[in-house]
Amino acid sequence: MLQTVLSYQNSEALPRDLFGAIADLKRDLNAVVLAHYYQDPDIQDIADYIGDSLGLSQQAASTDADVIVFAGVHFMAETAKILNPHKLVLLPDLEAGCSLADSCPADAFVAFKAAHPGHVVVSYINCTADIKALSDIICTSSNAVKIVQQIPADQPIIFAPDRNLGRYVMEQTGREMVLWQGSCMVHETFSERKIVQLQIEHPAAEVIAHPECEPAVLRHAHYIGSTTALLGYCQKSDSRAFIVATEPGIIHQMQKAEPAKKFIPAPPMNQCACNECPHMRLNTLEKLYLCMKNRQPEITLSEEIQAAALRPIQRMLEMS
Ligand code: 13P
Ligand code: SF4
Repeated sequence: MLQTVLSYQNSEALPRDLFGAIADLKRDLNAVVLAHYYQDPDIQDIADYIGDSLGLSQQAASTDADVIVFAGVHFMAETAKILNPHKLVLLPDLEAGCSLADSCPADAFVAFKAAHPGHVVVSYINCTADIKALSDIICTSSNAVKIVQQIPADQPIIFAPDRNLGRYVMEQTGREMVLWQGSCMVHETFSERKIVQLQIEHPAAEVIAHPECEPAVLRHAHYIGSTTALLGYCQKSDSRAFIVATEPGIIHQMQKAEPAKKFIPAPPMNQCACNECPHMRLNTLEKLYLCMKNRQPEITLSEEIQAAALRPIQRMLEMS
């Protein structure tokens, strides 16, 4: 795999000034670069918009650019394509997937739905277009509670695919839901023991966490929210230090917004870099330049899936 990536990159000459070359291509293509907070800092720095999944979907829904370059993972770029079926949507590395989306295959989900008739299906946006097409409403980490609260109290709900976000929404809303048992490999890697150890070393630091984390981590959190909400909280809070239990790519924006504050990444259980999302990090500035130059890899979807997946996304945008 690494070999493939290297030979792909080496086969084409790269300009010395990648930032300048990307700026030129943006102008030539009338392209917008949308980036998630978990991207490499270089990519964040050339993006036209950086955001969480809801913000990125809203930007994709409203852009007048001809080309959307999505610096994120496959399900995010797919969402942009569903919202813009006639636009060119590029993803720097088509292999940039998501363990959470992979944990919910469509055929197994069809059977799961059939086993729970009469349920409304609320799916977290971190799922494939096929799962979106099987859902009634999409949600993100920033609007999941608000969306579930709008569903009539006597209406049974299936929530997929993230069991941790689902459990958190159940606690916040007091609603019972049938949960698909999926999870994110990054957010399940944080060590509760090491977070407690960090709290002892930095007693004034606040723990901030993404709701994809396990309950054992969330119970230590002073604040829980989507990536955008976590960034906003650091700016509002009087605390000078934060232990950040989400992918550490977001610390680039936190540090830019609050240079005098200290941001400590929550450590994983092993001595590895597995708190970095290996899928998100497949995108590089070089691949971003090449995808714009070559106008590929592009996201394609069948018309049928595109139309079926659009409805629950539109419902989310209306209910947000
Ligand atoms: P948000 O940025 O929407 O909070 O999602 C986090 C995430 O895991 C994206 O893959
Ligand atoms: Fe998927 Fe987790 Fe990576 Fe987000 S951080 S893209 S949920 S694997």
